[in-house]
Amino acid sequence: MRHCMSPLDFSVDEINQLLDLADDIEKNPEKYAHACEGKKIATLFYEPSTRTRLSFEAAMLNLGGQVLGFSSADSSSAAKGESVSDTIRVISCFADIAAIRHPKEGAPYVASLVSSIPVINAGDGGHQHPTQTLTDLCTIRALKGKLGDMNIGLCGDLKFGRTVHSLISALVRYPGVRFSLISPEELRIPDYVAEDVLKKNKVPYEEVIRLEDVLPDLDILYMTRVQRERFFNEEDYVRMKDFYILDGPKMELARDDCYVLHPLPRVNEISVEVDQDPRAAYFRQVQYGVYVRMALILTLLNIEV
Ligand code: NCD
Repeated sequence: MRHCMSPLDFSVDEINQLLDLADDIEKNPEKYAHACEGKKIATLFYEPSTRTRLSFEAAMLNLGGQVLGFSSADSSSAAKGESVSDTIRVISCFADIAAIRHPKEGAPYVASLVSSIPVINAGDGGHQHPTQTLTDLCTIRALKGKLGDMNIGLCGDLKFGRTVHSLISALVRYPGVRFSLISPEELRIPDYVAEDVLKKNKVPYEEVIRLEDVLPDLDILYMTRVQRERFFNEEDYVRMKDFYILDGPKMELARDDCYVLHPLPRVNEISVEVDQDPRAAYFRQVQYGVYVRMALILTLLNIEV
């Protein structure tokens, strides 16, 4: 049985197949409308979420399946002290597949070790968020027609932002990818990403503080929110939260084909005036997230249409 813990659980070929399937689902939704009839997904969310949880649920409903789950730790038996391993054993009796979000790094992995149904990591602490990465890859491929030969700017909280860590690990496998890592000194990518992912794969990258310095050279600008819930003190958060604000005048520095992505939720880092810009792709990105999660559910359940 296959689980999805990290984007690297799939080879580049398998990712291409997933993205091709997501494309086909977008073009022919009716073909897939009954593919998961009689199947259920359990969404076990121990941390807040809007998009990820609801897009898993929308994905399963679009496939003709059903959904169950909880959306906070306090409303589950975690509040009584139940372990994630016990919870997943129980859920395996109720559902065919599960998506788990947890504040502790590695919790979905621990669940996968004892689970008799496929487990999807829907975000584990500041570690990984593979289905956001599949969404991001799907969006970049749709907008650019390719995944390699690009300069990708990642801006904001690169230290705690799990979407950034997963996206970098996935993109280093495509030839010609370069990164501009834009963050305040304190929020740079963790050492393990710099050493074990970027340097090990000999992928060129630069770390800069000012967005303006690299913006004119970017093919994609991936903005992120400062991850308040992972800060040790509120003071540091307040000092850093408005470090980057992408607005109309800054967008004038970017190329006509530099698309702006954001995993959302946005706080202040993209001003709402940018939403009208044809290069703003973050709401389209949400839609791709549903198609790619449909593709992932079909793949992990071994359902061929
Ligand atoms: C992201 C997450 O949860 O890591 N949100 C999401 O799933 N789209 C990004 C964030 O919370 O900033």
